[in-house]
Amino acid sequence: MIMNKIENLSFEECSNKIFELSGMMYEPEIASDIWLKILKHKWILSEKLGRDVGVRTSCIDFLENTDQAVDEYFTQRRKDTLREMGAQTISSDLWNTISDSQPPKQLIQRRVILPLIEEGLATKHGVVPPKAIVFFGPPGTGKTHFVKAIAGILSWWYIEVMPSMLMANGVEKIGANLRHVMEEVRGLDRVVLFIDEFEELAGSRDMGDRIDKSITNEFLKQIPLFKNENSKILLVCATNYIRQLDSAMLRPGRFDCIIPVGGLDDAGRRTILEYYLSKINAGKVDIESVVEMTRGFTPADIQYLFQQIASFSFERELESNTDYLVTTETFLHMNPKIVPSLSADVLDEFEKDSVTYSRI
Ligand SMILES: Nc1ncnc2c1ncn2[C@@H]1O[C@H](COP(=O)(O)OP(=O)(O)O)[C@@H](O)[C@H]1O
Ligand SMILES: [Mg+2]
Repeated sequence: MIMNKIENLSFEECSNKIFELSGMMYEPEIASDIWLKILKHKWILSEKLGRDVGVRTSCIDFLENTDQAVDEYFTQRRKDTLREMGAQTISSDLWNTISDSQPPKQLIQRRVILPLIEEGLATKHGVVPPKAIVFFGPPGTGKTHFVKAIAGILSWWYIEVMPSMLMANGVEKIGANLRHVMEEVRGLDRVVLFIDEFEELAGSRDMGDRIDKSITNEFLKQIPLFKNENSKILLVCATNYIRQLDSAMLRPGRFDCIIPVGGLDDAGRRTILEYYLSKINAGKVDIESVVEMTRGFTPADIQYLFQQIASFSFERELESNTDYLVTTETFLHMNPKIVPSLSADVLDEFEKDSVTYSRI
């Protein structure tokens, strides 16, 4: 048990003592810290008044006069937690790099962002803003990009958790680490918590071993606690393998929406192509031909194509010592070297999953 160093009181006992004396309830860990301060305050107060002041008086006096100190303490603690968890701020511009036609942008706007921004109006109409959502779809389709863009447009903190981070002190500890992360984030405000490779923590219990099962159970326990919190927090989980998830995880009541993130239409590809074209030494490029030749490409494929093109043009110029401009010809040359991720088979499977699992 964790003990308070001065009086040999456990954190719980500190919390109970403060409650008995003042009627104020603090989380055990915080109570332990405050308890030390109360004892110090008792000493200072006794010195000041020249008599021995009781612990009840000291406790009430401390809490009444140090509201601000307690607030500062909480603010500092939140800052520490944000730093510990690697919280990032994301530019609101990221949202605009996504074409309006790229699914599921409009859906996210309608179901997630607007209810969170237009809180009053949402309440008036009985719309419950989402607290927990899932993104699924093939690798490279922009799931992570969407989560960051949501944090950016909401101006909330972005915290990313990968299952590998929870494994640092052994697989046995994953469940406890997950609980710790969720508890910490619940004490924060204006946070998007992103759990990537979600299937690793929420896999089917039918197939998993004892540890897998306990991790999935822990996750199932944590979601309602997370959703009950009044603060502004949004949990987003993403997976490339929705079929591997435990069926209980996907039942209504746990996640508010389960959203497919799939292929790009022409306009979606054009927007991303224009973005990457602005970063290379481009000459005359017929964008419509490139839009055409990148059918079946994910955003990740497009990014890879541009990396290849950038190296190619860089090397050409090194060799020839003359300005090398990327043209439609360069794309015609490089494009066939890249196999689009969204083959007919992949798209077919994704369509099936979309029918089976989507809840929007
Ligand atoms: N709309 C977009 N505009 C520009 N780049 C994008 C866009 N969507 C995704 N990307 C880029 O494509 C790559 C793959 O996207 P990512 O979000 O990591 O996919 P996923 O999480 O689904 O595997 C990332 O490098 C990301 O920055
Ligand atoms: Mg990702």
